[in-house]
Amino acid sequence: MYYLADTANIEEIEKLLYYFPLEGVTTNPTILAAENKKLSQILPELINLVEGKMLHVQMISNKAERMVDEAKKYREIVADKCDFYAKIPISKEGFRAIPLLKKEGIKVTATAIFTHLQALVAARAGADFVAPYVNRLDNISSHGIEVVGHIVKSFNDFSLPTKVLAASFKTVDQVHRVTLTGCYSATISYELLERLRSHPMTDTSVATFTKDGEDLYDIPF
Ligand code: E4P
Repeated sequence: MYYLADTANIEEIEKLLYYFPLEGVTTNPTILAAENKKLSQILPELINLVEGKMLHVQMISNKAERMVDEAKKYREIVADKCDFYAKIPISKEGFRAIPLLKKEGIKVTATAIFTHLQALVAARAGADFVAPYVNRLDNISSHGIEVVGHIVKSFNDFSLPTKVLAASFKTVDQVHRVTLTGCYSATISYELLERLRSHPMTDTSVATFTKDGEDLYDIPF
């Protein structure tokens, strides 16, 4: 499982890059709105921070051709500093945009996926990643993990090169269960990434080891 941070908060990303094996960052308009900054300000900041890693930026346009223009602009700004993905919500126009973007050599993450079949169609259209929304599915009494499991199975069964980037998590258990589907990657909030890598028993054990060893470890280094 590869981990990406679902945030545009600079401090959070800095801390994660320092302590966590992060593959990149994903954003959407809602995440960006929480930062109270315009895209022209935040995009260069993200590019500098995430240099050399994946950066998934969501398109806001509703027409396929406009999505392509938008993605071309962001790709120009990102240049070769990050591994850029245009996040395309899979509306009718979104599906149409995928092959157009691929023709331009722009990598695509099909987002706002809520069903197994949406993911398959997006993969057939040429998406590099599909992003199924686990918690939003769970919230409507559907089964987010099951949907991801079906997508992973079909991508394997049909030898599709598209990867799954599971998204929308609220609990550590959701991340645990999505990992068991064999899903390639997940994008997770800062707070949840912190929670999934820590355990109070680890803290207690480390404190005991430190105490027991402090007078014993006498070899200078
Ligand atoms: C990421 O690609 C999605 O936009 C994001 O994970 C959605 O998460 P939310 O359901 O917590 O808003």
